[in-house]
Amino acid sequence: MSDQRFSVFAPGKTILFGEHFVVRGGQALAVPVSELGTTGKVSPAAELSFCCAADVAFVKRAFFTVCEAIGMAPPAIELDLETTLPIGAGLGSSASLAVALAEIALRLAERRPSEEEINQLAYRLEQLAHGAPSGVDNTVIAYRQPIVFKSRKEIRSLNLSAPLQLLIADTGVQASTAAVVAGVAQRATANSAWFADLLGQADALVDQAALALENAELERLGRLLNANHRLLVELGVSSSELDRLVEAALAAGAKGAKMTGAGAGGCMIALVDSEAGRSVGAALKAAGAVRLWSTQVDAVDPRGAQR
Ligand code: PMV
Repeated sequence: MSDQRFSVFAPGKTILFGEHFVVRGGQALAVPVSELGTTGKVSPAAELSFCCAADVAFVKRAFFTVCEAIGMAPPAIELDLETTLPIGAGLGSSASLAVALAEIALRLAERRPSEEEINQLAYRLEQLAHGAPSGVDNTVIAYRQPIVFKSRKEIRSLNLSAPLQLLIADTGVQASTAAVVAGVAQRATANSAWFADLLGQADALVDQAALALENAELERLGRLLNANHRLLVELGVSSSELDRLVEAALAAGAKGAKMTGAGAGGCMIALVDSEAGRSVGAALKAAGAVRLWSTQVDAVDPRGAQR
């Protein structure tokens, strides 16, 4: 029996720019959502047992996978997992679970894991859940800081010079990331010139957004979010529910708004300030949001870790 008792917390995430394009050679800009996430509690037990509301069969398979990957026999523990993240809604529920399980397994193996070790192991679980994910979700969650992600080898952290206030609204429509990504693949293959043009525009938005964030140009950031939403509409991954919420947020005074994550349902985000936050929230509810969260992404101390 393992005598270890500890808990871990892995946040959620939201992609501000570049979802889908990042799967096909583009870059994405993502931030952690610290108000939501997965909590994993480990306690000693006579045998390995799981306690979670999520799909226990998947959690078991995922935990055995990480144990095997690090060469550890599955330990005798009780593993209690809870999440406050909506499932299949674009806020990184599977990546958050993956990061939590990876950290738990590495700590049980009596290692002091680095963020990168956790990230690499979590990516394996993301592959188990999604096939061939870009890796942006597990990376932003494992590092818990805003990043620009181009590939698993090209990642840079972003130093925000002002905090970001976002509202996140859930359409309540669940969608499968794999199915939406497959639809994009089909359209991109059928019309490669059209896709290349969109990809070029999306990549330019990421570069401009990174600068806007580093220089605290929030009005500009808002306009860039709107432009990214229009690209995702053209890519065919938005939905009438998402578009309605985006329009409602803008009409109520948000600086910018867009769908986030795989789309076809799930969540959208609106960039607000403290003045507009309340009216935008009310407008989102009136336009059909089934759940609403407010998150603040903090400015990073410039002396903080740089990758
Ligand atoms: O699964 P979601 O909704 O959190 O979004 C993942 C982001 C995509 O770019 C659509 C897929 C990927 O692998 O990056």
